[in-house]
Amino acid sequence: MATTQAVGALTTLVTGASSGIGEALARCFSREGHVLVLVARSGDKLQALAAALTGEFGVRAVALPADLAQPGAAAVLATRLRRQNLVIDVLVNNAGVLEHGAFVDIDGQRQQQLIDLNVSGLTAMLAEFVPGMVAGGRGRILNVASIAAFQPVPALATYAATKAYVLSLTESLAEELRGSGVTVTALCPGLTATQMLNRAAAGSAKVARLPDFLISAVDDVAAEGYQACMNGEVIRVPGLLNRVATVGGRALPKWLLRRLNGVIGRSSL
Ligand SMILES: NC(=O)c1ccc[n+]([C@@H]2O[C@H](COP(=O)([O-])OP(=O)(O)OC[C@H]3O[C@@H](n4cnc5c(N)ncnc54)[C@H](OP(=O)(O)O)[C@@H]3O)[C@@H](O)[C@H]2O)c1
Repeated sequence: MATTQAVGALTTLVTGASSGIGEALARCFSREGHVLVLVARSGDKLQALAAALTGEFGVRAVALPADLAQPGAAAVLATRLRRQNLVIDVLVNNAGVLEHGAFVDIDGQRQQQLIDLNVSGLTAMLAEFVPGMVAGGRGRILNVASIAAFQPVPALATYAATKAYVLSLTESLAEELRGSGVTVTALCPGLTATQMLNRAAAGSAKVARLPDFLISAVDDVAAEGYQACMNGEVIRVPGLLNRVATVGGRALPKWLLRRLNGVIGRSSL
């Protein structure tokens, strides 16, 4: 199919677009006619997805491989985009990694990788792209956090802390940028059927035995993320069960929530 680019078509950059929620989000934005910039480390997968999106939806899609955990990666990406005259209207900060297990069993390098991508990489992307959006008076940002952002999660201690950071940063920026034309949304999925969950299940028989009703379909999660982002909502928790869990959790005193999560978290080890 020939590539079409409607006059005034929005350009959306999706990080972590080579699989899972990011790939599904890329499809949602393409379906609505957005030009797509696809970012992750796996260039071959990004190229294949770009060709598939152009074939299916007739939109332009550009693959830009990058390791966002590396310092300076966001700045290099922004320079490459400027050279291609691509201005980002919608930034989807989805790339993330997870480590499940006891804190003492995860070495310092793996703990650091969580922070380098989930915290530093995401913040560097915001620092690179938000100023231009504010100067232009328009923009949409979708940061992918997690329901783990709302409370401490033993057995996912550092991961949950990185997602609490993403949620806090999103809420602060959403208010700071109120009236600027730029909106900031946190998508907070629960368990979702992706490679990330498969990897956690491969490392833990208890995670592998989680009942299906707790696990959301990736396309449903992405559809809610797309909708919340384009509506300019601040927080979206996809799925009724996850919404009940987060609202219920917030109603509990912090000490009780911590103890409950301790029981659940330790039982997953
Ligand atoms: N699945 C769940 O249950 C769940 C629940 C709540 C929140 N989330 C969040 O959803 C987001 C997407 O996760 P997913 O479940 O879709 O996992 P996934 O299938 O493993 O996808 C992760 C994506 O991040 C990319 N990525 C990893 N390291 C990167 C790096 N250093 N630089 C650039 N890209 C990198 C991966 O591509 P490459 O390997 O090609 O780089 C891949 O495209 C994450 O932020 C995750 O924390 C997931």
